[in-house]
Amino acid sequence: MAENFTVTPWEVTGDIDYEELQRRFGTTPIDDALLRRLGGYGDLHMMLRRGIFYSHRDMNTLLDEYDKGSRFVLYTGRGPSGSTHLGHIMPWILNKWLQDVFDVPMYFQMTDDEKFLFKDLTLGETRSMAYDNALDFIALGFDPEKTKIILDTENIKTLYPIALKVSKKVNFSTARAVFGFENSTNIGSIFFTAVQSAPAFLATELQGRQVPCLIPCGIDQDPHFRVSRDVAPGLGYPKPSMLYCKMFPGLGGGDKMSSSDPNATIFTTDTPKKVKSKIGRAFTGGRVSVDEQRKLGGNPEVCAVFKYNFYMFEKDDRKVEEMSDRCRRGGDPLRRMQGGPHREDKRVPGRPPGQEGGGQGDNRLHGL
Ligand code: TRP
Repeated sequence: MAENFTVTPWEVTGDIDYEELQRRFGTTPIDDALLRRLGGYGDLHMMLRRGIFYSHRDMNTLLDEYDKGSRFVLYTGRGPSGSTHLGHIMPWILNKWLQDVFDVPMYFQMTDDEKFLFKDLTLGETRSMAYDNALDFIALGFDPEKTKIILDTENIKTLYPIALKVSKKVNFSTARAVFGFENSTNIGSIFFTAVQSAPAFLATELQGRQVPCLIPCGIDQDPHFRVSRDVAPGLGYPKPSMLYCKMFPGLGGGDKMSSSDPNATIFTTDTPKKVKSKIGRAFTGGRVSVDEQRKLGGNPEVCAVFKYNFYMFEKDDRKVEEMSDRCRRGGDPLRRMQGGPHREDKRVPGRPPGQEGGGQGDNRLHGL
């Protein structure tokens, strides 16, 4: 069972066992001591408190350097292949918190080249999506004086010398082992990881001194940064430190929100009405009838509505706990999301009267 999942930068399938993934990748759990230490710099962000960001590489080294007065740069990114959804935004929110707390610069890489190489999209399409997606990143309020957005096809001149140095240190057999490339893989894809490494070393190159880098992102990106970290010492760069989060769940009960299932995905471009209707149809793992639901209670671990509050929307830990208790007792997970009174009308929110529960949609009855 635990073996039954795949997580790579280009594919996430199956039920992810995050402990097992951490073992496979060789990353380190974020333990209480590290949380306490991070909490010493500013009010600990809920994504850290709740173990959503749960794994890391070399955080203590980074903080030791910071304490000695060496400021790091933040680096994260986005592969523009469609509209931005909540799963993309989640790690950016922690990046914003880190920028505020540590008062550090930030690089944001838009890999329009990557999505052109790996998907059936034109460069014109990935480029225009990059500009579109950049608005979502900007909207989170990063400090414009300290934040640089890198568009690969536009800024390649700056990245290229670094990418070249990285690529010379990575042979094909390593790339194949790390990313699972085959003989049919196009050669641009094989080189690409060097381009994703480049921003991690950019500050060091530009300033001509060792500038530590912290990359907070989804754990699916670890294969790239394992390579970056392996080559760094040989090129005279500090190894980037990493903070990894879990994947943001889909509305359909899946482990990862994915654009390929638009009904289970909330895009920043969705209208409020559309969002409401998607949430109304979310998988909640509810029982087959109202009575069963009241009698047996629900399971917050599988309920998308609960998970959304837990991952992103409810900042107050006490309220999250209350929600979880209420759910287990068979209560209404949508109450807080909708901000309305407890629904007693036995109607599944977002679905027309007469189609609520029983029949095809019955596993969603939890929304009562
Ligand atoms: N490869 C990432 C994606 O497909 C985009 C990306 C580029 C990135 N650089 C990054 C993600 C640094 C996290 C951190 O979305």
